[in-house]
Amino acid sequence: MRILAIESSCDETAIALLEAKGQSLNLLKNQVYSQISIHKKYGGVVPEVAARKHLETIIPLLGSILGKDKLKNIDYLAVTAGPGLVTSLLLGLTAAKTLAYANKLPLVAVNHLEGHVYSNWLTSSDLVKNPKKFLPALVLIVSGGHTELVLMKGHGQYQSIGRTLDDAAGEAYDKVAKLLSLGYPGGPIVSKWADKGNTKAYDFPKPMLTSPNFDFSFSGLKTAVLYTLEKKKNINKKDIADICASFQAAVVEVLTTKAMIAAKKYQVKSIMLAGGVAANKALQQSLLQKSKSQNLPFFYPAANYTGDNAAMIAVAAYYNVVAKSGRIIKNKDILTLEPEANWQLSKNKI
Ligand code: KG4
Ligand code: ZN
Repeated sequence: MRILAIESSCDETAIALLEAKGQSLNLLKNQVYSQISIHKKYGGVVPEVAARKHLETIIPLLGSILGKDKLKNIDYLAVTAGPGLVTSLLLGLTAAKTLAYANKLPLVAVNHLEGHVYSNWLTSSDLVKNPKKFLPALVLIVSGGHTELVLMKGHGQYQSIGRTLDDAAGEAYDKVAKLLSLGYPGGPIVSKWADKGNTKAYDFPKPMLTSPNFDFSFSGLKTAVLYTLEKKKNINKKDIADICASFQAAVVEVLTTKAMIAAKKYQVKSIMLAGGVAANKALQQSLLQKSKSQNLPFFYPAANYTGDNAAMIAVAAYYNVVAKSGRIIKNKDILTLEPEANWQLSKNKI
């Protein structure tokens, strides 16, 4: 089965071609065009600019992926239908709908967060070969727009057990970077500074660490960083490194502690990390160490699949097809598909 997938939910235009054969996933093509250099000067993603750039990029990118074979030998189109910026989603969706409709192919509408979950399947052949050994899994999804703990019971079966009440973890990194004038996106920059700093220099709050649920809150932590900066007259490089290290330590402790308590409570067989913040080495190390002590396998995506990409959308689409999910849209219904900017992975929260 060959799947052509398109991802355009935020500021990356991405297209991938996946061949799934029995128990092997073979990524034939995978291209990501990142708009970071454009949005950098605004300190964040500007939706109108992102949409215009997707429009300019998507057709040439499709051409370079498909080449002269066009859509020959392709069985399914797949596209991110949400969650994300509606103006960005529309571009990928329109391209995928047009291609699928004109070529009489079925289209799989993929949830972006489900794509992030399946980035682990791109990285681990064990998961592809023997998913039952590792499911149910506790998945920690941490990105720029989402922070959520999800119980994955099987392919396409998710139950949300907690999520952020305000800022997402990635958003907190981005805002702290902005407060320190370090640039955008903040995650990779703050974590680099954190490597050089003292995690105990500042006693930042660890929001909701001991709350009797699995929800998160990161806006107070960002405010604590702001107050610290307001109190200081001058800040030098050591201050920046120490603030980043102490901030990161608080984020990592909250995320790890809650994930491990949830893993125990729901008696999962593995722990998975997903989303842009999954690239964070301190978070990977902390979860690796804690899951080892509970004898639980721990998965995190390879560095090239942590951020937004279409390969993960293709893999998620493949498992939607395998599970015969309701998200496979027949050719006659394709034109009615609309973006779902707030599409949740699981509507019912435990
Ligand atoms: O999943 P993603 O690429 O886009 C969304 O779906 O939101 O996640 C982007 C987020 C940004 O907030 C970025 O700062 C954060 O992931 N991020 C990181 C790291 N790399 C990217 N956060 C912490 N540490 C990193 N190394
Ligand atoms: Zn994402």
